[in-house]
Amino acid sequence: MPKRPVVRHQFDVVIVGAGGAGLMAALQASKSCSVAVVSKLYPTRSHTGTAQGGIGAALGNLEPDSWEWHMFDTVKGSDYLADQDAVEFMCQEAIKVVYELEHMGLPFNRTPEGKIDQRRFGGHTKEFGAAPVRRSCYAADRTGHMILQTLYQQCIKQQVRFFDEFHLLDVLMPEGRCGGIAAWQLATGELHVFQAKGVLLATGGFGRMYKVTSNAHTLTGDGCAAVLRRGLPLADMEFFQFHPTGIYKLGILITEGARGEGGILRNALGERFMERYAPTLLDLAPRDMCSRAIYLELREGRGIQGKDYVHLDLTHLDREVLDKKLPDITDFVQTYLGIDPHRQPIPIQPTAHYAMGGIPTTIDAEVIRDAGSQAVPGLYAAGECACVSVHGANRLGTNSLVDIIVFGSRGGRRVAEWAAKADPPSLEPDAEGPAHEMLDRFTMNLGGESAGRIREELQQVMMDSVSVFRTQDGLKEALAAITQLRMRQRRVGLQDKSVRFNTELEEALELGCLLDLAWATTVAALARQESRGAHCREDFPTRDDANWLKHSLASLEGDRLRLDYKPVTITRFPPKPRTY
Ligand code: FUM
Repeated sequence: MPKRPVVRHQFDVVIVGAGGAGLMAALQASKSCSVAVVSKLYPTRSHTGTAQGGIGAALGNLEPDSWEWHMFDTVKGSDYLADQDAVEFMCQEAIKVVYELEHMGLPFNRTPEGKIDQRRFGGHTKEFGAAPVRRSCYAADRTGHMILQTLYQQCIKQQVRFFDEFHLLDVLMPEGRCGGIAAWQLATGELHVFQAKGVLLATGGFGRMYKVTSNAHTLTGDGCAAVLRRGLPLADMEFFQFHPTGIYKLGILITEGARGEGGILRNALGERFMERYAPTLLDLAPRDMCSRAIYLELREGRGIQGKDYVHLDLTHLDREVLDKKLPDITDFVQTYLGIDPHRQPIPIQPTAHYAMGGIPTTIDAEVIRDAGSQAVPGLYAAGECACVSVHGANRLGTNSLVDIIVFGSRGGRRVAEWAAKADPPSLEPDAEGPAHEMLDRFTMNLGGESAGRIREELQQVMMDSVSVFRTQDGLKEALAAITQLRMRQRRVGLQDKSVRFNTELEEALELGCLLDLAWATTVAALARQESRGAHCREDFPTRDDANWLKHSLASLEGDRLRLDYKPVTITRFPPKPRTY
């Protein structure tokens, strides 16, 4: 079979992904070794740029706060599935990294005295659940955008090498360790082999497996899929978060910061329905609870005009709050809906937002290979593609930005330390063979299936049966449909035969990742016979700590997915019933 040209590179460390986790890791690692960042996008287009409402840290700038309260909220928010040693570390470090970002020049909103301003966010409380607390440090409603710009500038200053618009195909694993990656360059169609002593994956989430999502088109889980295909496990894939306030039908995020500033969810009767579901925190209850409450209102026929949406009401907020603290969402709803949020409520529905599951890692961002937490030498992961696990069954808002900065930083330091002492890996002469095959499968295929059509069917199936509410029958139907779609995917052929900028080939590669990850999500969801956090089984409506207080690990075994389980680390907060 004719082979395409291969370009070879050598670095101490390769980081895949240029969002907040990847850039933070690059910044740290590049202090002591040669680093390449390989990214599917131009870095400042990474999805971190869409994070709106803030980064949580117990600075206590407006009222008393402590990292222990932050830790408690995160553990309770996770429905007790988060590993508490990792959460403790994250909540302590959050304070340091926010000041670090400030010193790098991040333009946070300020209090009148010049301190970093903080606002309320879902599930964040003072005194172990007594009342909401102002913990989210924010730059208007474009905090992620500012983080990305700030970190990218720092990386450029530090002369990090960037390889933009490269698609990850494979993680190379000579002799049981990681030795680099293979990637396809969109602009040239060439295959690139990056040999490295250490690799850190920071490829983000995979919300594009759902029809209505806040995630960018590029969020197709390429890093998670590459790891799964290498026989390594993915953890807690059954837990996928729906953010309560996506723009109706479009899924575009309306930040929880809008409710943090006083916004209210209302049904067709104008009722503040969260009073029924979370009497203490109301509209600032955690996302899993708010999303379920919205669906229950819709089921009861209280959707606006009988349709499947409710309202987010911001009309009572001061004009200055919207203009100064929420300018982007004001612009979004004007642009996409023709609505002025100063005067009209915003139609919203839950939108697929965040994967709590992903590549299991230690607190040092080392990828683990089994339930015994054995690390894979040289392979690291951080950010949404990883599962440390600090979010457990449900992530609190603002903790994603904390996670990417804290564990991006820690992972960057650790992979650099590893590279300083590791021997260079010896790659087989045809190490890139599987990557060639992956590309050939589509470029040589004459089958008549289209990747776009299969993706749309997948997104509908996931939306119908593997979203906020789940049942055994629905999950079984979804599994059968995904199995069919995976078979059809083998017959995907390309209309576009060009070598350069073949975006149809990119879509086909991405579809393969989405199908594998949807499969893992559905298999793990079918197995977990309880309701916990974002995983709500209508046929098993209660949490079952006796049988299910454990992380799932899904790995490929031939043509099937095997599930193993590993214990949750509990330190300070034993599981309790979860009320808000
Ligand atoms: O609502 C938001 O601004 C989203 C924040 C997050 O997912 O952490």
